[in-house]
Amino acid sequence: MRRLFFAAMFLGAMVAATLFGAAASAQNPPVPADAPANIPAGLTEIMILQQMRHIKLWFAGQAGNWPLADYELGELSDGFDDVNKLLGGDTVDDMVGAPIKALQKAIEGKNRAAFMTAFDSLSAGCNTCHHSLDHPFIVIERPAVQPYSDQSFEPQKK
Ligand code: HEC
Repeated sequence: MRRLFFAAMFLGAMVAATLFGAAASAQNPPVPADAPANIPAGLTEIMILQQMRHIKLWFAGQAGNWPLADYELGELSDGFDDVNKLLGGDTVDDMVGAPIKALQKAIEGKNRAAFMTAFDSLSAGCNTCHHSLDHPFIVIERPAVQPYSDQSFEPQKK
């Protein structure tokens, strides 16, 4: 009888330890209180393309290649339309709507100074969104090096 009692105690302790362990590991890693409900699947892939377009847009503008800059801005806008479909609401427009319009204007006016200012506010918009969607460690800035050595960014004669 006594043996049975100890066996039952032991089993109980095992069950308790397992349950406690499961509960503890479910809380690990800690989820920040302000974390978004979820980041929709496919967003990372779009962002990787957005990063490429952001780089190409900069070097097109630097080269004064306005047709290429216009094209890259169009691709970037299409990418943000896709992000908008995934996220819904006004997030995308709030973050990058104004800089995209300013870039359109600068490109139409072939205005390099205005282009650079608008480009910096676009990057700031990228970062504000990363902050607000719990990815503040993804920081976008002016690209320093043109990584696409197989593409000419120089303006083309017709
Ligand atoms: C509407 C909000 C939003 C905007 C605007 C936005 N991002 Fe993001 N971005 C995100 C989120 C959220 C993630 C994290 C995605 C994930 O973890 O699945 C992300 C991730 C990234 C990544 C990491 C991709 C990787 O796998 O390394 C890059 C690079 C990036 N964004 C670039 C940009 C650039 C460049 C812009 C602006 C031209 C921009 N983003 C604008 C929300 C945004």
